[in-house]
Amino acid sequence: MSYKAKFKVWRGEGGEGRLEDFTVEVNEGEVVLDIIHRLQATQAPDLAVRWNCKAGKCGSCSMEINGKPRLGCMTRMSTFDEDETITVTPMRTFPVIKDLVTDVSYNYQKAREIPSFTPPAGVRPGEYRMKQVDVERSQEFRKCIECFMCNNVCHVIRDHEENKTNFSGPRFLMRIAELDMHPYDVADRQEAAQEEHGLGYCNITKCCTEVCPEHIKITDNALIPMKERVVDRKYDPLVWLGDKIFRR
Ligand code: F3S
Repeated sequence: MSYKAKFKVWRGEGGEGRLEDFTVEVNEGEVVLDIIHRLQATQAPDLAVRWNCKAGKCGSCSMEINGKPRLGCMTRMSTFDEDETITVTPMRTFPVIKDLVTDVSYNYQKAREIPSFTPPAGVRPGEYRMKQVDVERSQEFRKCIECFMCNNVCHVIRDHEENKTNFSGPRFLMRIAELDMHPYDVADRQEAAQEEHGLGYCNITKCCTEVCPEHIKITDNALIPMKERVVDRKYDPLVWLGDKIFRR
């Protein structure tokens, strides 16, 4: 069964834009990305949208649907009433290139600032021996598809462009936590998380966890344990004494 749906889609580039109204055919089983493709095919051939796999695995088609960060390819049209007007806008935290396509290079910049896995000197690949519990702990974080919806929704940068320099967002604080949990990683992740990547800005609102399409418990399993380890170290009397002695 098909029906006609009302859409408002953000169109624009160069810092200017507006919502444009469309009425478009919807067929059973379709997702929002199907509708965007139908608009391109029938009414707006120059409508820009980034997508790739259409299977919820590439993280490309992040957009805001009725104000909520969602993957276009995983948002079924059946979740909306047929007479509802559906509003599709680009992710708000990143600059718009054109229409629904944003410039997410902030995220790649932050990724580059994190030193890669750093094993102890003398331990070669193939010699790592890990407990299964350590393998499983980080497995959850490796499900991340880098859709950047967690960074998009986090209020620390969503409403405060000026914080972008000092805050790497939940995606990359989670990456640092993952490395810190690795039994063979010897880099000082705790100091870096706090001083260079802005862990202290996170006030545990959990919006990042709510929008994660992979249902990763970003806040509970990565950010809060990382905060606890940073605090443990800061208030550890031996660390405090060491700091005093070595700063003299
Ligand atoms: Fe932001 Fe997630 Fe913390 S939304 S404030 S990083 S819990």
